[in-house]
Parts: sequence; structure tokens; C-alpha cells
Amino acid sequence: MHRLFAYASVVDQREISRAMNDIEGKITTNDEVAPGYYLLKVKLSRPMDPFVPGQFVMIRVPDRDVFLRRPFSIYDYHRPVLSLLYKVVGKGTEILSKTGKNEKVSVLCPLGKGFYLQKRQEYVILSGGIGIAGVHALIRRLGTRSSVFFGCAAKKELALIKEIDTLPVSVSTLDGSYGFHGTVVDLLSEHLTTLREKDIEIFACGPAAMLKALRRILEKDKTPCQVLLEERMACGLGLCFGCVTKTVDEAEPYKRVCKEGPVFDLWEVCL
Ligand SMILES: Cc1cc2nc3c(=O)[nH]c(=O)nc-3n(C[C@H](O)[C@H](O)[C@H](O)COP(=O)(O)OP(=O)(O)OC[C@H]3O[C@@H](n4cnc5c(N)ncnc54)[C@H](O)[C@@H]3O)c2cc1C
Ligand code: FES
Repeated sequence: MHRLFAYASVVDQREISRAMNDIEGKITTNDEVAPGYYLLKVKLSRPMDPFVPGQFVMIRVPDRDVFLRRPFSIYDYHRPVLSLLYKVVGKGTEILSKTGKNEKVSVLCPLGKGFYLQKRQEYVILSGGIGIAGVHALIRRLGTRSSVFFGCAAKKELALIKEIDTLPVSVSTLDGSYGFHGTVVDLLSEHLTTLREKDIEIFACGPAAMLKALRRILEKDKTPCQVLLEERMACGLGLCFGCVTKTVDEAEPYKRVCKEGPVFDLWEVCL
């Protein structure tokens, strides 16, 4: 049996609902914004507690075959509407993409620890592909105080940054069909010397390979950086220990992505 399912069996779903902020909602829209990417809007039956960008929700997919809730970053929230941006990668997201207006869902929210904002001269936000979902609320909150770098496979994925196109965004594409030809980390490294003239902090969300490459270019100067990590999750509440990530701290070698994260100091975790 997969370890997550074993853990999940000890987590009583009714207990979770009682103890946590489990909010019922109705889907208002669920539109494909780029091939394979959907923007889901859910009207919540009661207000969600204030959230910090980088926090996430656990959503129950309206299908009996999908037992575990799935984690998604809070893309946006304007009372009473919660927005999630997701990419179809497997069974849960495939089913979610086929749900429509007025279908009922329930969301545990807001969960985890989001980005911690210290006073800096400039904030640099880096995202790759669907990683934009994890930093979108942060970009909105920081506005022109941040420099935004977004990388994707090809021009057709530019629709993912449509909602922030009032802000300057430096774009890279892997196939060179738009902006810088290469990865978003290569693009950032071209600007790093100039950016480092100020007191900066970097916030990043994207695939593991992107975060590893980011770590390599920041290693020498140990530039302040927070990363949003993704791990498969069963409970999302810190109960099952199914989502741990390795840290460099010998006293606490593992941390739960859902509880101590999903946002971590880059220099605290082993990627
Ligand atoms: C804190 C957090 C925030 C997230 N925010 C978003 C978001 O805003 N938008 C979005 O599209 N996705 C997000 N994800 C990833 C999302 O949860 C998974 O893509 C989703 O659960 C996959 O469900 P599925 O049933 O479609 O895939 P499955 O059928 O369960 O798996 C399909 C494939 O996806 C991989 N996968 C499944 N879950 C994860 C995961 N958690 N991390 C990495 N790979 C995974 C599997 O290894 C497998 O290769 C987030 C994950 C976490 C932990
Ligand atoms: S998913 Fe259960 S502890 Fe993190």
C-alpha cells in the first residue's frame, strides 16, 4: 500500500472537518486559460480567514473515486470567491477540469506557512510554469515593489501571466518563442549582478529542477531566498507526516511541507 494511503487511513476525515476551517463552496467558473491549465473560481459559503501569499488549500474533488483532497496554492481571494490556478497532471486534476458551474466542493483553508516579508529594498519573484500559481497573490500584494521573472515552455503559456500583465514581467521560454530563450534561472542570472546592488530577497515557486538550479546560482553569496515546495500530501494538516522534506538542521532533519512549509528558507532545506 502506498505510504500516503496508509497514513491517510488513520486520519478521520470527519474529525478534520470539525477541527479545521472546512468550507463548502460552489464552483462559479472553471475555464481553460492555456492548454492544460485551468482557473477555478469557487464561491465560498462563509469567509475564509485572512491568508498570507504562499498558503494553500486542500480541495475535495467532487468524485468518490478520488479519496484524498488535493493541495493547491491560493491564487487569489476576493470575498467570497476563492481562485485556484491548476495544471492537469493526473486523475484528481483531470476530474477537477471536468467539473463546472454550481458543482459543490469543500476546501480546508488557509493552510501552511506562506512567504515571510522582511523589509528589503527590492523583492525578486521567480516562477516556472504552474509555479506562477504559488506566487501570484504575492505579486499582487507587492505590486511595483517587486521584479518578476516568469519562465515557461512556450509562448502559448503566456496566458498564465495575463492577470499580472499590468506589471513588468521578464519572460523566458524554453523554445525561444517569446522573450529570453532558455530557463528562467538563466534569465535571472543575467540580471543578478545588477539586482544584488540592492538589498534583495528572492521568492521562488516552480519545478524541483528550477529550484535546484536557482540554489546553484545563489550558493556563493547565499542570497536571501524563500522557496515554495510541493510534496504529495494526504492530510495537509501536519497529522500524517507523509509530506516531509529533508533539512540541513541535524536537530530537526525533516520538516512537514504542509505545516512548517510549504514556504521555506532556501538555505534551510536540502533540494
Ligand atoms: C502546497 C502545494 C501547493 C500546490 N499548488 C498548486 C497549484 O496552485 N496549482 C497546481 O496545478 N498544482 C499545485 N500543486 C500540485 C498539485 O497538488 C498536484 O499537481 C495535484 O495534487 C495532482 O493531483 P492529481 O490527482 O491530478 O495527480 P496524481 O494522479 O495524484 O499524480 C500525477 C502526477 O503528479 C505528481 N504529483 C502529484 N501530487 C504532487 C505534488 N503535490 N507535488 C508534485 N507533484 C505531484 C505525481 O507524482 C504524478 O507524477 C501544489 C502542491 C502543493 C503541495
Ligand atoms: S500531508 Fe499529512 S503531515 Fe503533511
